[in-house]
Amino acid sequence: MKKPIRVAVTGAAGQIGYALLFRIAEGAMFGPDQPVILQLLEVPVEKAMKALEGVAMELDDCAFPLLQGIVQTSKPEEAFGDANWCCLVGAKPRGPGMERADLLKDNGKIFIGQGQVIDRVGASDCRVAVVGNPANTNCMIAASQAKRLPADRFTAMVRLDQNRAATQFAKKANVQVKDVSDVFIFGNHSPSMFSAFHLAKINGKPLTQVIGHQEWLRGELQETVGKRGGAIIAARGSSSAASAANALVDHVHDLFTPGKIHSVAVKSNGDYGFDPDVWAGLPVKTIAPGQYEVIKGLPLDDFAKSKIAATNKELVEERNTVKDMLK
Ligand code: NAD
Ligand code: LMR
Repeated sequence: MKKPIRVAVTGAAGQIGYALLFRIAEGAMFGPDQPVILQLLEVPVEKAMKALEGVAMELDDCAFPLLQGIVQTSKPEEAFGDANWCCLVGAKPRGPGMERADLLKDNGKIFIGQGQVIDRVGASDCRVAVVGNPANTNCMIAASQAKRLPADRFTAMVRLDQNRAATQFAKKANVQVKDVSDVFIFGNHSPSMFSAFHLAKINGKPLTQVIGHQEWLRGELQETVGKRGGAIIAARGSSSAASAANALVDHVHDLFTPGKIHSVAVKSNGDYGFDPDVWAGLPVKTIAPGQYEVIKGLPLDDFAKSKIAATNKELVEERNTVKDMLK
């Protein structure tokens, strides 16, 4: 039997938590022969801790063979202690009429303390995946607190956007979503993101040869993917949860699986014209479990460059808004 992976999940009694934990425990994130220990963090409020207890009872009642332990706590040191992966979900979601950046002041500060504690008590191979919005900038805040863990251990999720774009492409081309590949999201998890249609493929062929409709690709497609979160809030009355949990499973699974090519928000280091110190969605290839490299040198036309410049500008503005939270 393999040594269990310790997975810390914050906001474990929230909407995404409820759709996520059962998937991790059944093996969807790390594979069908990899045991896990769930280390669940909630706020020290009776209602939240009671709800967490209920979730843990349900996890017990699933009798998952891979689930070797559940920690329920309101203490970050306990949740992140020896954690190999930290899934930072716990944060306020936006409501109707808000943009994700409106959450920065409230949510940003959560990631100062959590970044510090993860750096202090996480396992030596500890890796972090940020979901709480605005995810890119919260990830930058957490990473800035770390002295021991290098910046490339901190990633934020743009996988939901990748999955959204893949489905829109498949529908437009009248193919199955499995036929669509090389879907890359550049920039911020916000309406400014760029769904790089010019790099995508359908059954190995350039997508632009299959979907010749440039106007749709540059206009409606970008809007639909960029504003999908808002459309779900408007329809459901609360923000996406099952699809977000599914995207996080995909994000970590693909970072754990060598050879996978996918979109992840990482420290840009200046790639593709981004400011070097922002966390931007970029195309990555996983080279070993948890290790990735940014795929460099993909072609960008003037349209792509202008979209990247706009989303980069927003990321730089977000960084300026939280400059007091950065170390
Ligand atoms: P939710 O309100 O249902 O749950 C959040 C949970 O986090 C709550 O139970 C709350 O008590 C807990 N929490 C708050 N602060 C915490 C802290 N400091 N430590 C531990 N737990 C804490 O919200 P949700 O729908 O699960 O969404 C969570 C976050 O994920 C939101 O910020 C939302 O906007 C974001 N989100 C991101 C994406 C993405 O693609 N990046 C997608 C969907 C949602
Ligand atoms: C999403 O994209 O669905 C999430 O980021 C939630 C939101 O606020 O849009």
